[in-house]
Amino acid sequence: MRQRKEGNMYNNEMKLEFISKSSNEAFARIAVAAFASQLDPTIEELADIKTAVSEAVTNSIIHGYDKKQGVVKISSWLKENEIIIEISDKGKGIENVEMAKEPLYTTKPNLERSGMGFTIMESFMDKMEVESVVGLGTKVTMSKVIKPKEDKDEDEFKMLMTNS
Ligand SMILES: Nc1ncnc2c1ncn2[C@@H]1O[C@H](COP(=O)(O)OP(=O)(O)O)[C@@H](O)[C@H]1O
Ligand SMILES: [Mg+2]
Repeated sequence: MRQRKEGNMYNNEMKLEFISKSSNEAFARIAVAAFASQLDPTIEELADIKTAVSEAVTNSIIHGYDKKQGVVKISSWLKENEIIIEISDKGKGIENVEMAKEPLYTTKPNLERSGMGFTIMESFMDKMEVESVVGLGTKVTMSKVIKPKEDKDEDEFKMLMTNS
């Protein structure tokens, strides 16, 4: 996977590192959105990416590092019409990933957590994978296909034709 990412099958790549402060969540989601905008996404596609990044980064800050301070890393790659985003922390890790991914599952119910973070990432992106080792950290990899503009225009045209 890593080898492929570093090969030239990707058109662009960026890396970002910041400390685990809640105030950096907005920075992270806006930075990734700015990078993603090179694929000319719709407002909706961009909003989906921002929400997914926000959920993953918040998880690293709140669950991964809890009250400690650590570093959150983001790597992102652009392919022809796809964005791949990897968000990782060296925090406490997740004991049971399958359970953590279940809708409504949360280990912090008292903090107004809804337990829907992973479910949101999964539904707003095309793919989502979680790798985690207790004591070492967590890595979330997500990807989303951004339809090229010509296809979108064609869709819009078809919709106009069928609605009239
Ligand atoms: N980066 C992370 N490090 C440690 N634990 C995590 C991480 N991300 C998620 N988790 C665990 O997975 C659970 C589910 O996450 P999520 O679906 O986002 O719900 P919520 O954040 O509302 O609890 C969290 O409650 C937490 O126990
Ligand atoms: Mg969450």
